[in-house]
Amino acid sequence: MNSFNFNHWATQHQSAVEQLLVNNLPSERELPHTLHQAMRYAVLGGGKRIRTLFTYASAELCQAPVGYADAPAMAIELIHAFSLVHDDMPCMDDDDLRRGKPSTHKQYDDATALLTGDALQSLAFELIADSKCPLSESQKVKILHLLSVATGSRGMAGGQSIDLESTGITLNHENLEKMHAYKTGALIHAAAIMGVICAPNYTHAQYEAIDVYSKKLGLAFQVVDDILDAEADTETLGKTAGKDAENNKSTYVTLLGLAQAKHLAAELHQQAVNAIASFDERANPLRGLANLVVQRGY
Ligand code: IPE
Ligand code: IPE
Ligand code: MG
Ligand code: MG
Ligand code: MG
Repeated sequence: MNSFNFNHWATQHQSAVEQLLVNNLPSERELPHTLHQAMRYAVLGGGKRIRTLFTYASAELCQAPVGYADAPAMAIELIHAFSLVHDDMPCMDDDDLRRGKPSTHKQYDDATALLTGDALQSLAFELIADSKCPLSESQKVKILHLLSVATGSRGMAGGQSIDLESTGITLNHENLEKMHAYKTGALIHAAAIMGVICAPNYTHAQYEAIDVYSKKLGLAFQVVDDILDAEADTETLGKTAGKDAENNKSTYVTLLGLAQAKHLAAELHQQAVNAIASFDERANPLRGLANLVVQRGY
């Protein structure tokens, strides 16, 4: 582990989850053809798969058996893809571009995009509950509970609701933090904690450390997303740059300005890294991932 290469580790897991998703999404040859095609379109061939990496990195720190994290890793990507399909719709952010391709509602239509999100969400839970998933019944229930809370009104969907209600007004720091922690932080936190639960013998210290680590990075992830929206170009992002300003969104850039927002991202990164400082080299994937969250260019 001394010569741990994060890029190599990340690429391996990204390809592995890509293949799992290819195999586990319904075939477009199966009825309903259009819905299945749209589900595959929304999930495959794009996306950094960062949430998946949180699941695998936590599972590896806690020494989960090989294969146990596969269903949760797929599930978190399916929920995330569902959130993006709906986020881009005209009734929400109205964005025509996602992962360098037309958004799902542009490639198909609004009704198909709505159903695609619904079906991706259900598939996520189905894959965890499936008898082929090697997790124990009690691990499955814990993971299903965690993921459903993180997806619902006290998590992603709740954050998206606050986001829509806050359009055109300036949130104070406390409320902005709550919105970001809900809409983006909750799924990242769930991704990491699911990885812990995949390990039958995880320790209290591991759980507590990953809890803090993933909350800090979940928030940092959206702070950086706000910064990139303001700074990067559309081609690099694969989604429309400047969309937050165009839509009058309340973001860390509007609240603090670019320099202070970057300072906050660095601070959150440091707090996340500190939370896992006592672990040995088995935490190196988590350390690399913390760097990726704040150093990414898209
Ligand atoms: C974008 O997430 C949406 C947010 C929650 C900020 P990602 O930047 O992880 O998007 P993909 O999956 O790589 O496309
Ligand atoms: C999205 O936040 C959060 C969710 C999809 C839950 P944004 O609206 O900033 O995400 P992007 O920038 O469109 O990817
Ligand atoms: Mg949005
Ligand atoms: Mg958006
Ligand atoms: Mg954004």
